Amino acid sequence: MIIGRSVFTGYEGKQAVLVLYKYRKKMGFLVVVNYFNYLRCFFLTVIFKQNMDQVRVKDKDFRLFLSAETIQENIRLVAKKINEELVDKNPLFLAVLNGSFMFAADLMKQVTIPCQISFVKLASYEGMQSGGTIREVFGLSEKIEGRTVVVVEDIVDSGRTMQQLIASLETRNPEEIRIATLLFKPEALQCELHLDYVVFEIPNDFVVGYGLDYDGYGRNLKDVYTLIY
Ligand code: IMP
Ligand code: MG
Repeated sequence: MIIGRSVFTGYEGKQAVLVLYKYRKKMGFLVVVNYFNYLRCFFLTVIFKQNMDQVRVKDKDFRLFLSAETIQENIRLVAKKINEELVDKNPLFLAVLNGSFMFAADLMKQVTIPCQISFVKLASYEGMQSGGTIREVFGLSEKIEGRTVVVVEDIVDSGRTMQQLIASLETRNPEEIRIATLLFKPEALQCELHLDYVVFEIPNDFVVGYGLDYDGYGRNLKDVYTLIY
């Protein structure tokens, strides 16, 4: 974003333009020697910025939606709440693979109370439509009876996956189950679900990055991107 510009007349009457711009919290300036060059630099900067803000994952284009910095800031706030609320609970965090691997890692770095972490795997999603049919929950070797369990999920969309996971965990008699999710699409929710820790509420659009995938791709992106329709 251009936040200011000044035009100077300098040596031999040549005009110079000073352009101050801001891009992803960083400020910079451009000095160009005449109007024509100024325009050329301006368009190159805009094209450069657009390319930086867009990614192609498999056969679709996505636009930057949540930057890595914003994600980390908000995770810190959620972790603070968890540290305060669960200080005496010796919680067991259950991260749901694959999608939550980045979120779980960053969240756990900010959790400072005594706790354990384990991973479960399940799948209910293919392509860009939530199938809603949960497959098996596997990987849970810990005893959760009498424990405070915090499920760590990448995204709650229809909520069906989480609802079924909670039902399955409840048969093992935990003291309490809480849910921590990086993303929540309130408009897509199709069941009753209480979410204890939500890092971001987002619109009902398809997103990738920071663990979330489109047909298995895009999980490695450090920011979250939204589909360009
Ligand atoms: P739900 O059962 O409809 O809540 O779907 C939950 C699962 O669907 C999540 O754990 C994700 O794996 C996947 N999912 C839902 N929305 C998105 C999205 O926008 N991008 C990528 N995966 C998604
Ligand atoms: Mg998932």
